[in-house]
This record gives sequence, structure tokens and C-alpha cells, in this order.
Amino acid sequence: LHIAVLMGGWANERSVSLMSGKGVADALESRGHRVTRIDMDRRVAARIAEAAPDVVFNALHGVPGEDGTVQGMLDLMGIPYTHSGLATSVIAIDKELTKLALVPRGIPMPGGRIVASEELYRADPLARPYVLKPVNEGSSVGVAIVTDESNYGNPIRQDSAGPWQDFEHLLAEPFIRGLELTTAVIDSADGPRALGVTELKPKSGFYDFDAKYTEGMTDHICPADIPENIAQLCCKYAVEAHRVLGCRGTSRTDFRWDDERGEAGLFVLETNTQPGMTPLSLVPEQARHCGMDYADLVEAIVAEALR
Ligand code: DAL
Ligand code: MG
Repeated sequence: LHIAVLMGGWANERSVSLMSGKGVADALESRGHRVTRIDMDRRVAARIAEAAPDVVFNALHGVPGEDGTVQGMLDLMGIPYTHSGLATSVIAIDKELTKLALVPRGIPMPGGRIVASEELYRADPLARPYVLKPVNEGSSVGVAIVTDESNYGNPIRQDSAGPWQDFEHLLAEPFIRGLELTTAVIDSADGPRALGVTELKPKSGFYDFDAKYTEGMTDHICPADIPENIAQLCCKYAVEAHRVLGCRGTSRTDFRWDDERGEAGLFVLETNTQPGMTPLSLVPEQARHCGMDYADLVEAIVAEALR
């Protein structure tokens, strides 16, 4: 096949996407495919039209790329592409819209509310500890955990620098103590299948951008050392989220689990439609654990785009 691997672009996760794209392109070449590597710019439609690939592998993360824009462009061009389509991407990139889709279907997610960042300077939006996050970023870009110990003041002081300052609106959610868990789902001819549960144990205590992409900063426990009923619930919710949102190829659903509260302590944080494919990423790691190496995984994702 001739496969265009779309990567980079101008999202805040550009550097992550370049790592994913390189991994994917190298793997596809190792399997004998012809690969065109495209670092996305404003002329991307013309460049894809010129390359005329059989299929596009979308290795973009964040906005634009994970949000439906690129998906809509490729729909109009009539070129098949990997991962989720337009409508799914629009919903899943937005953590608040995701709640509107998943919570009514019985998938527990934390409460919370959208706040204007300037509101933070008048009052805490929720009781501390809480999490502030942009609704449509990935890799923990712009995320802060606000605790009583934070040196942000209470309420947050205008002069205290925080990652929220680049964003007009933020999602404030109660911080859920306990464990960080994740479950990958991949599609197959038999339908979506959960690959297992991984626990992420960042040495700093916060699984932020550096902890995600710096070798040695986070222990990945795969499979997670958690009770069987919790692992089963993670798999059930991840497959259900994949189905309800209409994901394609692969997705990865992230959780917090308060281990003092049993099943009632498990919450979905979000479903990622363009999960990372870097050397430290979690979908490839779970796939490997299930006997599927990185190149097998990449080929399975391409096969779903052409099915
Ligand atoms: N947003 C990053 C790429 C992930 O979910 O893996
Ligand atoms: Mg994400």
C-alpha cells in the first residue's frame, strides 16, 4: 500500500505527534509499504492530493488533527484514513461533550464545571483539591492540580503563574485520589476488544507531560495490580465508551480509581481517539502484552481504515 503518515502540525502536542508519526512510518516501511511522511501545514490538502495515497495514517494529536478538522477534510477528498471519523472526533476531543455522551449511558465520570479562567482569581470553583484542565488538549497540556498546599493562593492569586493562563475556559473537576489507570481498545472483525489495564505510577506523583514522555519518570504496571472486578469494569467502560462515541481502529480510555471506595470509586476521565504511538505510549505497550508487536498494531489500525 501507499500510506501517507500525517504528523506534526501546529497543535501543542506537535512534538508528541512527530514521535508517533516516526514510529508508525518506520513500522509501515519495515512491513514493505510505501510511505509518504507529511508534517501538516496549511497546504496539507494539496500535498495529500499530490501524494495520492491509498490511505492516510493520522498520527496527529490535539487540535488540529484529533478534533474533526482533518477528518472532515479527508472525507471531502474521498481518501480513507485511520482512527475515528468526524463526528466522533468532535465529541471526544472535548471533555465536556464527552461527559454529555457517556454519563447518560451509565459510564461514571467526575462532576465539575466549566469556569472562565478569570473567575479563578475571585474564588476557587470547587473545594480543594481539584483539577483544572483545558477541555480539548492532550498529554496533560495546561493541566494543574490545585491542592491546599499549592502556592497559587486561595483563591488563586492573579500573580501566581499557572498552566491555565493560556486558556480562556477550563474544566474544573474534583481531584480523585488513588490510582491512574488506562485501557486500550482495538477494533477487529469481531468488534472492539479491550487489551487490559495499565497503572501509571509517576515518580513525581503527577502524570504530567514530562512524566509521560521522559524515560524512567513513570512506572508502567501492565497488567495493573488491581482487583479483578475493577479490571473488568475498566475493560467494560472502555469498550462501551468506544462504542457509544463511535470510535474506529483504536481508542484509549483513561481512569482514576479511588481504591478506598471500591467499584464506586472508578471514574472515566476521557476517551482518546488518537492515542499516542511513541516509544513510551500505552496502546503499543498493552498490545505487546497481548502478543501484538508495534508493527502488527499499526497494520491492524490501517486494516480497520480500509474495511
Ligand atoms: N494525547 C496523547 C497523545 C495520548 O493520549 O496518548
Ligand atoms: Mg487525552
